[in-house]
This record gives sequence, C-alpha cells and structure tokens, in this order.
Amino acid sequence: MSTRVPSIAVPPAASAADGAAAIRPARPADRQPLLDMLARCSTQSRLQRFHGFLRSYPEPYFTGALAGTAEHVALVAEVAGTVVALASCITVAPSAADIAVLVEDASQRQGIGTGLLAALVGHARSAGLATLNATLLAEQGWILRVLRRYGRVTARVSLGVYEASVFLGPPTARAPVVGAPMVGD
Ligand SMILES: CC(C)(COP(=O)(O)OP(=O)(O)OC[C@H]1O[C@@H](n2cnc3c(N)ncnc32)[C@H](O)[C@@H]1OP(=O)(O)O)[C@@H](O)C(=O)NCCC(=O)NCCS
Repeated sequence: MSTRVPSIAVPPAASAADGAAAIRPARPADRQPLLDMLARCSTQSRLQRFHGFLRSYPEPYFTGALAGTAEHVALVAEVAGTVVALASCITVAPSAADIAVLVEDASQRQGIGTGLLAALVGHARSAGLATLNATLLAEQGWILRVLRRYGRVTARVSLGVYEASVFLGPPTARAPVVGAPMVGD
C-alpha cells in the first residue's frame, strides 16, 4: 500500500530567514538527506528523539519511514530544498499510534515542529486514530502543553521519561490546522 500526502506549506516563522518550510511525505530518495540531517543534529536532540546517542536512525524504523505505508506515515520538512525535520506516526493498535518528531537544531523554534505535529494529527483524524502516544524526556514537560492543544493528555513519568497519550478531541481554534494527509492507494 502506498501513502499519498499532499504537500503542505507551513507559514513562514518570523525567524525563518529562508521562508516557509514545506511538509511532504518522506520518500526513498530522502535516505541520504535524512542521514545528513541527523548528522547536523546535536547529541542532545538525538538523545531527546531516540533516547540514545545514535549515529544513524534505528532500523527497521528508518526503512519504514522511507517506504511510507498506511501504518507508518512519515513526513519531512524542507527549508529551501534542504530536509530539516522528520516526523512519524506509526499505528500500533486499531485506534492508536506512536508519534515522534525531530527538527534539526538550527531549524528549531521556527514553528516547524508545530506544523509537523498538526499534519500528523490531521492524518490521525482522517485515519480514525483516537489516541497518539509520545515518549518524552522528563525535561521536556513543555511538549505536554503543545500536545494539549489537540485533546486531553495523560502522562506518567518513570525513570526520567514521560509516556504521554493524547486523546484526540475535535479540532479547536487553538490547535494549528494543517491539511490532513491522505493515506491510501
Ligand atoms: C521538540 C521539537 C520537535 C519541537 O520542534 P520545534 O520546531 O522546535 O517547535 P516549534 O518551533 O513548533 O515550537 C512549538 C512550541 O514549543 C515551544 N518550544 C520549542 N522549543 C522549546 C524548548 N526547548 N523549550 C521550551 N519551549 C519550547 C515554542 O516556543 C512553541 O510554543 P508556542 O506554540 O506557545 O509558541 C524539537 O525541539 C526537536 O526536534 N527536539 C529534539 C527531538 C525531540 O525532543 N522530539 C520530541 C520527542 S519525539
């Protein structure tokens, strides 16, 4: 099964000198650009995303992201033709998925993570997913505030890690809306 996700334009952030980030599905040709992106990420960002000091993406996660299936929807964000972020929504149960986002350090705090999260939520809603799970380091409690824009959030912390779940509510005025990715054939 293939994944069809229309390109999504994220409004330019005030600090994004190169203009808007464009969000689109990951594709096999993104393998090297994504490896290059990971190489530009700080140790801290890699640790926050993968909870380990990785030099490359874990497998089979990376191959699954590049393949793009209904069960693993992966999005990249590009700024001026350079891939700067990777986001994933992996279905783990009939109505639940694990989500994760990595934005390279130089492109953080420019609204790209918000745009990717909104796109993942749009996909989740259109796919009938009701719960999105995210694993965060305990130092990243601020992400819970961002997740709450999309529904009720529960989080339990253990050994320095939050296991958070968002129970998707109806779209609200506070939550950014980005065109819902279409998954299908
Ligand atoms: C978490 C991450 C994806 C956020 O992406 P981003 O593009 O930097 O986030 P945005 O610019 O869209 O900011 C979203 C909100 O979070 C806030 N924010 C961003 N980084 C923050 C930080 N380090 N501390 C506190 N707040 C922060 C922003 O101010 C913004 O708040 P607002 O919506 O009220 O204005 C990015 O920091 C990242 O990739 N980190 C490393 C990997 C990781 O931790 N992933 C999450 C777990 S899977």
